[in-house]
Amino acid sequence: MKLYKELADWWPLLSPHTEYEEEAGLYLDIIRRHHPNVQSAVEFGSGGGSNAFYLKRAFGMTLTDLSPDMLRVSKALNPDCRHLEGDMRTIDAGADFDLVFIHDAITYFIDKQDLLAVMQNAKRHLNETGILLVMTDQFTETFQPATNHGGADGGGRGMRYLEWTFDSDPDDHMTETEYLYILRDRDGTITREHDSARSGLFPMPEWEALLQEAGFEAVFERVDYSTEPGTYYAIVARQHA
Ligand SMILES: C[S@@+](CC[C@H](N)C(=O)[O-])C[C@H]1O[C@@H](n2cnc3c(N)ncnc32)[C@H](O)[C@@H]1O
Repeated sequence: MKLYKELADWWPLLSPHTEYEEEAGLYLDIIRRHHPNVQSAVEFGSGGGSNAFYLKRAFGMTLTDLSPDMLRVSKALNPDCRHLEGDMRTIDAGADFDLVFIHDAITYFIDKQDLLAVMQNAKRHLNETGILLVMTDQFTETFQPATNHGGADGGGRGMRYLEWTFDSDPDDHMTETEYLYILRDRDGTITREHDSARSGLFPMPEWEALLQEAGFEAVFERVDYSTEPGTYYAIVARQHA
């Protein structure tokens, strides 16, 4: 997506980190309930580092992402965190973490074999008692088409976006999202951009089976955001004994 490459510099206006405080708090509650003593965590697909900005107050975080442009945005917000570039299916950020955290970035996989590769790689990063927390955006059981808009002003610039997510073919295990962006630069220049993304749509038992194959036991925990309509579940995965 352009948003994670040439438009990455606009990310803080599309999705300001202050909008993540509530969700990061909800994830921290879940983490603490399942592993009260997390000291070290790695995030796969950490993007602009907005959840990390809050989570890092509780434990040390290594932040990893495919996009060097998004890593640059995150480094500005989280200069105290270690950053690494790489694909979450193959990256090697170390092997002794208490927690692997994967937020919405995993939703982009539309092939089950890719999901399995991510889960197997997460396992390689964990110590014996470590856990995996996955916060994917959607499951077959919960998906609803949606239209969102937002954006913010800052540093003399402004950005607004319209986002439309739909499922054209209920049999193909994926959804499509179309984005329109309006960018107002410091000199007043207005630019309009367009982006498209495809996201995986799998039933919960499919996630459970893949995690089982990767060596995990999964539970699903309902997450209720005060500002986000819809039904969301976190997947918490413990390693098999
Ligand atoms: C919406 S952002 C993540 C936001 C982040 N979780 C936060 O709290 O700010 C999605 C990120 O996923 C990254 N991404 C997409 N596919 C990836 C992959 N295969 N491996 C690693 N990162 C990936 C993109 O580069 C992008 O930065």
